[in-house]
Amino acid sequence: MVEGIDVYALRSLPQAVDLINAPESFAPLRLDARALLAEAAQYLVDLRDVRGQQAAKRALEVACAGGHNIIFIGPPGAGKTMLAKRIPTILPPMSLEEAIETTRIHSVAGLLENSRGLVGTRPFRSPHHTISDAGLIGGGAVPRPGEVSLGHHGVLFLDELPEFERNVLEVMRQPLEEGSVTIARAATSVTFPARFMLAAAMNPCPCGFFGDSTRECHCSPPQIQRYVSRISGPLLDRIDIHIEVPAVKYRELRGEHAIEESATVRERVLRARTRQLERFAEEKKIYANAQMPPKLLRKHCQISEESEKLLENAITRLGLSARAHDRILKVARTIADLDSAAHVQPHHLSEAIQYRTLDRTYWA
Ligand SMILES: Nc1ncnc2c1ncn2[C@@H]1O[C@H](COP(=O)(O)OP(=O)(O)O)[C@@H](O)[C@H]1O
Ligand SMILES: [Mg+2]
Ligand SMILES: [Zn+2]
Repeated sequence: MVEGIDVYALRSLPQAVDLINAPESFAPLRLDARALLAEAAQYLVDLRDVRGQQAAKRALEVACAGGHNIIFIGPPGAGKTMLAKRIPTILPPMSLEEAIETTRIHSVAGLLENSRGLVGTRPFRSPHHTISDAGLIGGGAVPRPGEVSLGHHGVLFLDELPEFERNVLEVMRQPLEEGSVTIARAATSVTFPARFMLAAAMNPCPCGFFGDSTRECHCSPPQIQRYVSRISGPLLDRIDIHIEVPAVKYRELRGEHAIEESATVRERVLRARTRQLERFAEEKKIYANAQMPPKLLRKHCQISEESEKLLENAITRLGLSARAHDRILKVARTIADLDSAAHVQPHHLSEAIQYRTLDRTYWA
């Protein structure tokens, strides 16, 4: 599958001798890697499977369009896991280069099924919250890739985020910042690629039903505060979009209204991504809005005085932290890209402001 190399498929050593003696009588194996990729790029799930949850689906579309990490907050059974599993289906299709990179990692880890020569779908990895840091970032005497690398070019989903050990979350900083992870050993050190989209989910409180309209929550404010604060800090800093996922109403579950399929959403995501590729054509290693450093943020997210007021008002009134400021601007840029708008406008900004649930003081 790697281009630029001739591969001869031989059955025996005598055949190898024949090849050396008469290379002209053998033809190298030709594989149509692109056709193989097209065949492998089939998902078994679709966004159409999820009923209702329009707001969450929109947030998911924004997240995928700008490469933003996302966290879902909602009661058990609302469909958080279901939504997360469908993220790969609305991300841009894998390029051959990406597919080969991901295949290499899965091959090294011994996860490549014999029938499958190529990983053609974006991986979805969902490690349990009891995972060790070695399991997450890789480890072992002969270092093996961890979940962050198995999710390379795909999605790493951390369900019940507050339940993960603090130190486990700490080790995610390098991969989140650099897109790779280094495992140091006395004799050697190995670097594995680890560029993934982070999706996470959590209940709004320890019992799960804070803010739910059908069930009563018995958690005290300090209990809720402690629960939410378990994920504060460096990791939360890397998650641009927070979205509440309430329980679906029965009417929506049974409803017959048309639901968009993944392919339709993916088209819009692709268009927004293309705008970003053009925007960052001159930049090294920056492909999406989520990766913008402060300098680029100032350049590409200029806003009017009216918008500036709106943002200032939101930050002071909702009690948003200072770190929310830049994230809101980045997400607003993505929303403007989905809207094919050259400049960030007030309504783009207002939507972005809504995606900061966990920064609000209302949890206290
Ligand atoms: N919006 C929805 N549309 C269709 N089915 C849903 C929806 N939400 C939940 N379900 C059903 O409930 C099950 C549990 O959903 P899940 O995604 O595991 O919830 P959560 O992760 O929020 O606890 C799903 O497997 C699905 O059968
Ligand atoms: Mg779940
Ligand atoms: Zn509760």
